[in-house]
Amino acid sequence: MVKKIFLTLCLLATINIHAQINKQKDNRLEWFEKAKLGIFIHWGYYGVNGITESWSMYHKRISHADYLAQGKEFTASNYNPDAWLDLFEKVGAKYVVLTTKHHDGVALWDTKYSTLSTVKHAAAKKDLLTPFVKAVRKKNMKLGLYYSLCDWSHPDYKPVTFERIKTTNKFYPQKGQQKLSPWERFVKFNFDQLEELNAYKPDLYWFDGDWEHKAEEWKSAEIKQSLLKSNPQVIVNSRLNEYGDYKTPEQGVPIVRPEGAWEFCMTMNDNWGYFPSDTNYKPISQIVRTFVEVISTGGNLLLNIGPKPDGSIAPEQVERLEALGKWIQKHKTAVYDSEAGLPYGHFFGPTMLSHDHKKIYLCLFDAPKNYIQLKGIQAKIKSIKVLGSGENLSFERNGGAAWNNIPGILRISVPSENSLDPYVTVLEVELEDKLVLYRGHGNAVELNM
Ligand code: GLC
Repeated sequence: MVKKIFLTLCLLATINIHAQINKQKDNRLEWFEKAKLGIFIHWGYYGVNGITESWSMYHKRISHADYLAQGKEFTASNYNPDAWLDLFEKVGAKYVVLTTKHHDGVALWDTKYSTLSTVKHAAAKKDLLTPFVKAVRKKNMKLGLYYSLCDWSHPDYKPVTFERIKTTNKFYPQKGQQKLSPWERFVKFNFDQLEELNAYKPDLYWFDGDWEHKAEEWKSAEIKQSLLKSNPQVIVNSRLNEYGDYKTPEQGVPIVRPEGAWEFCMTMNDNWGYFPSDTNYKPISQIVRTFVEVISTGGNLLLNIGPKPDGSIAPEQVERLEALGKWIQKHKTAVYDSEAGLPYGHFFGPTMLSHDHKKIYLCLFDAPKNYIQLKGIQAKIKSIKVLGSGENLSFERNGGAAWNNIPGILRISVPSENSLDPYVTVLEVELEDKLVLYRGHGNAVELNM
């Protein structure tokens, strides 16, 4: 009996601890789940030659020495983080994620633990992170720091496939660490650098490269603990093995909505960094549609830019950011005052729901024909209008059997041509009461009128 009581108490305590952790997680993720848009910034040496970030040396398309030599032309001479942030604010982003250190090992801040930084190994001769953080803090925006767990320049990190230059060691002073094994030294190095980054008090850590080692090897659990110790509100993406707080699919829009909080990161052309020969830019319409698809399923879009080595942003990227920002501004109630929309089957297109569930936003990718159809809505409709133009649309309920709770379809008239948005048109359906959905399979109308 005593044993039984003891076990029950243990079970209750475990449930309680889990509930606490989950509650704490929900609370930490609150801002993230409302953010909708973040800007990802891949800024590094690779923009000098216009080659793939870090991977170009991994795949031996360039030697390690030549890769690092790009630093000589990485000037940051037109770097104006306040101007970046003004632009991101205008676009409507609520957070930014900057690559503080990619897989190549080059740090954008003045790290004590290696000389491979934009301060000591680049024409810029500057700490680029501190002014960036200052600029972010002037805005109502959250700070995200990207940090690659793997460091392909580090002498203690097992060589990947490229040949290292013999002098690699000189970049990583390791005084007093001779007694540690190479891997222990490397893990310590990551912890040390992360401690330096903690001083910037990021709201989000965006890890990368976790796939190269297991959680026990990176000490992912300990990393997470130490970050939380430094800032109990910090959140972490899903690339710290299983210790992330939210999912981070990349490049391909998820077909099925990921579970829990999530973010979709995407390039504007086919590369993360500045890559002038890659002109395969996505049209604005695709970027706006992707944004709508993502927010309609409860995620955030983390849209990437790759600034030039001088710190300016290519016009193709500015143009896309501004166009998305203009669209967001016009449809801001549907974007920021909303959450994921209706389940499949009610409307053939993305939808969002206002937080009070009294408004449904219907997104039209193309110009509609005949009429617009919405199904399975039990609540009475107050009005339907086009966001932006304010045009009121007439509507009519057809079919169904209201007395049997079968709502039939709503036929909404097609907006006039000049009400249609060039990218995505949004209709605001205002309900008399909170949304109640009919999710039935259909049945016989047992009592007819
Ligand atoms: C990747 C790559 C990397 C890129 C990143 C962005 O998987 O390794 O080069 O920075 O993800 O999502």
